[in-house]
Amino acid sequence: MTVHAIVLAAGSGRRFGGKKQFLELAGKPILVHSLVSFQETDCVNDVICVVPKEDLILTEGLISEYRLSKVNKVLSGGKTRQDSAAAAIDYLENKQSPNDIVLVHDAARPFLSTDLISILIQQAKMCGGAVAGRRVTDSLKTVSKKGVLQNSVPREGIWAMQTPQVFRLSILAEAYRRGTSDHFIASDDAMMVERLGVQITCIEGPPENIKITDTLDLRWAEYYLKRQAIEEVGS
Ligand code: CTP
Ligand code: MG
Repeated sequence: MTVHAIVLAAGSGRRFGGKKQFLELAGKPILVHSLVSFQETDCVNDVICVVPKEDLILTEGLISEYRLSKVNKVLSGGKTRQDSAAAAIDYLENKQSPNDIVLVHDAARPFLSTDLISILIQQAKMCGGAVAGRRVTDSLKTVSKKGVLQNSVPREGIWAMQTPQVFRLSILAEAYRRGTSDHFIASDDAMMVERLGVQITCIEGPPENIKITDTLDLRWAEYYLKRQAIEEVGS
């Protein structure tokens, strides 16, 4: 059984103000940080990277510069995350076995640990799907478009999702096929797969597995890396 990783990097970074995936963090583009995590683990066989059409050549250059030999396909993405994921799933479905395992990861999460990759794969092999997430800690409310508080939402049992999200290829492909034919819009892959009634295990991801969404997140990521470097020197 082969394990494939799909790294989604075809966004335009509207909230950030530009294509954050190519910005440097500690001397390496954010996308490269994510690709290196898959390069460094024996649990993953190959990587499909999805980028904006105009960045295909730039990405091929990064792959050879950083010797990311597991990246065996670079695809151009679509308008939404869902379209970009669908392009990669289509590609895999045409070439690979339905029993293979697929990890879908946002390139905008550069602090992906190889331990998290490995535990998610183990779980997905057992039950068909496994995702990383964290229990929410803030109080939750519904608020109207005009900014008026409506209701409180009980926090019990509410998790915020991270990536990787990991599934058997046959399940993921079927979920996307159905989602597309129903014009269903999902913000992550689990939301697609849930509709099939497949059991998905949630694993607590580490707090540093953040998604860089705005410039404050990038400042936090730089600070986190500096602290890590100081701790390594001290130990
Ligand atoms: N992504 C993608 N294709 C798209 C949109 C998003 O591959 N059409 C990827 C992004 O590159 C990112 C991940 O999906 O790694 C999560 O998306 P998000 O953080 O929302 O990034 P953007 O869509 O680029 O940002 P924004 O929503 O602010 O425009
Ligand atoms: Mg987006």
